[in-house]
Formats: sequence, C-alpha cells, structure tokens
Amino acid sequence: MTNPPLDAFGPLYTSAQIAARVRELGAQISRDFAGEQLIVVGVLKGAALFMSDLIRAIDVPLRCDFLRVSSYEGGLKSTGVVRFEFDITQTIEDQNVILVEDIVDTGLTANFLYENLKLRRPKSLRFCTLLHKSANTKINFDLDYIGFTIPNRFVIGYGLDLDGLYRNLPDIRALPED
Ligand code: PRP
Repeated sequence: MTNPPLDAFGPLYTSAQIAARVRELGAQISRDFAGEQLIVVGVLKGAALFMSDLIRAIDVPLRCDFLRVSSYEGGLKSTGVVRFEFDITQTIEDQNVILVEDIVDTGLTANFLYENLKLRRPKSLRFCTLLHKSANTKINFDLDYIGFTIPNRFVIGYGLDLDGLYRNLPDIRALPED
C-alpha cells in the first residue's frame, strides 16, 4: 500500500494551540510537584519535540532521560508487539518519574512502559501524552496529563511521523476519519 501524500492531511492543531496547551501542562506538572524533583523520560522518537517544549514549561528541578521502543515498524498500524530498542541510563528507584509520549493510541506501548518502569520502584510514576486517541485505547492505568483527546484519525507533525517523514512540521495534521 502506498502512503498518502502530505496534501491528504488537514489541519488539526496549530503550533500556537500546541504551545498554549504545552504551557498549561507544564504549569500543572510544576504545581503537582512543587518542592520535589523529577526525572522526565521521553519516548523517542515521536516525543522529542513535545518533550523539549514541555521541560522548558516545567519549573521544578528535573533530569531528562530517553528510551525507545517500537511497534509500528514504519506503517500506519501497530504490529501488536512492543520492542525495547534502548533504555534510560539512570536508576529511577525512589524518584518521581514522568513518562512523556507524543500519542497514546491502542495503549500497547503505554501499558508496556508503565509496567516495565513500575518494576523499578519509582517514588511515583505518572504518564503524560500530548495526544490521546481515546476510542482505540485499552489501558491498565490512568493517563495523568493529556494534551488533547483526538478522534480516530492518523496524525502527523510536531514529532509524529508517517514512515519517518513529517516529524518536523510545527503543526499537527490529520487524515480524514477512517
Ligand atoms: C508511536 C508513539 C507511541 C506509540 C503509540 O511510536 O510514539 O510510542 O506509537 O501507539 P500505541 O498506543 O498503539 O502503542 P512509534 O512506534 O510509531 O515510534 P516513533 O515514536 O519513533 O514514531
């Protein structure tokens, strides 16, 4: 199957709307963790842009880390199998941890990561996602911070890709509903 061209995608969120929501999420996290320290863990590659903006909107002391898992193998649909490609580089035991994702779709990746990091005994573990495709999600825990809840549409831009392309778009665009 050939991938849809860029002009098949319509606007979903402008860069200004994204920036405003990211500031709100950062303020909320700052309030929730006032007086504490954080380890913020970005899930590469999709969360890279969101993570870099989000941490600048948080004003409690924090350390960054990154990990990478994969389940989409470049296509439009999840393969159903989550694979660790690389892990964080610090211990999270007794630390406040926030996992940062660009999107929760089926919830497969989020469930896998939540269970995996929970086993490392963090002081707290919260989950922050810019986008939540809620109709699709089967998730075993609460999503603590959600930027936007979106319909079941394939999205690109602001870190989100189609076969590796379009992550650099400053806005978020979507295909028409399936
Ligand atoms: C995307 C996204 C999430 C996951 C969400 O990652 O960043 O990690 O899919 O889908 P799910 O809820 O159905 O598990 P992807 O595997 O496309 O890698 P990428 O971040 O490098 O684009």
